[in-house]
Amino acid sequence: GRRESRVCTVRVPINIALVKYWGKRDQTQNIPLNDSLSLTINSLHARTTLRVNYEIGTDSVKINGKSQTVTGSRYQRVFEEVRRWERKRKAGEVAEHPVSIQFEITSETNFPVSAGLASSAAGFAAIAECLQKIFGFTDSQKSQLARLGSGSAIRSIFGGLVRWRRGTQPNYEDSIAESFPSTHWPSLRALILVVDEGRKEYSSTDGMQRTVETSTLLERRIECCDVNIDKICAAFSNRDFSAMADMIMRDSNNFHAVCMDTSPPLMYLNDVSRTIIRLVHVYNEKNGSTVIAYTFDAGPNATLYLEEDTVQDFLDFATKQLRFAESAQTEVEEILGHKLDES
Ligand code: PMV
Repeated sequence: GRRESRVCTVRVPINIALVKYWGKRDQTQNIPLNDSLSLTINSLHARTTLRVNYEIGTDSVKINGKSQTVTGSRYQRVFEEVRRWERKRKAGEVAEHPVSIQFEITSETNFPVSAGLASSAAGFAAIAECLQKIFGFTDSQKSQLARLGSGSAIRSIFGGLVRWRRGTQPNYEDSIAESFPSTHWPSLRALILVVDEGRKEYSSTDGMQRTVETSTLLERRIECCDVNIDKICAAFSNRDFSAMADMIMRDSNNFHAVCMDTSPPLMYLNDVSRTIIRLVHVYNEKNGSTVIAYTFDAGPNATLYLEEDTVQDFLDFATKQLRFAESAQTEVEEILGHKLDES
């Protein structure tokens, strides 16, 4: 007889990389050239519901009430993989029946999705989590599905400090994320400065490909990632904020230097981003030690890391400075202050 529909709802947070993933060695499977490291930001999340209908029909994806194009999208890639696995599993069982599975996704985020705030990481990790629950997939399969949707989504499967290993096995089985133990740092905060809510100029996939094809600095960056990850993890264990902050800013700047070394250049930062970079360095200098770090993904918005007791003072300082800046554009649109990890 016909099978009942299955429904699953999960809530999965975003993550922001401290050592960025940039460059794929396999485009179709989203396998990275370098290991990356991130912090999961618990209070910014996607709440995602997946309904699976065992019938023929069109898949649908709705994010914050808006229908998304599924044909040719990364969603379709994930859905097709699941159908392929299910077909394989069913082969022999009921060979005469093709596997008819229809997917329906609705997702709500508690932050602006278009702001380039790693919304796809939360979204695809949530979809993978639902798929695992409904189909009984292994953890490795869940990781594979999250990664197929968006590479960085593989890191949102865990909380705290998370490393995505590029993997060495030919079948990519070991290109998975792992959480760094004892990441409890209750006073650590992230501030996200939304400089521009617009869509990013180039998708990360297109940007990465162009960098791999044209940048001569990328190779050197990739050589340094493992060492930098180890340094940040060590600083994290020692609660050495300034050592950690220094490495975070260096990686962000190195990443954007590599983007600039791409031809034609990928210019993700704008004048406001650069003002924020300057402000952070001025503030740290004024303080006599590094108490705040910035990092920028493939877009102009800043994520600042700092401890709780620095938040208000920095905001007072920054808003005063930003208001004095000449262009009206330099107003930061929105500031989201968030706890990283409550586990
Ligand atoms: O997950 P993707 O394919 O959107 O790539 C993410 C790339 C960066 O956000 C720039 C870096 C990272 O590691 O998250």
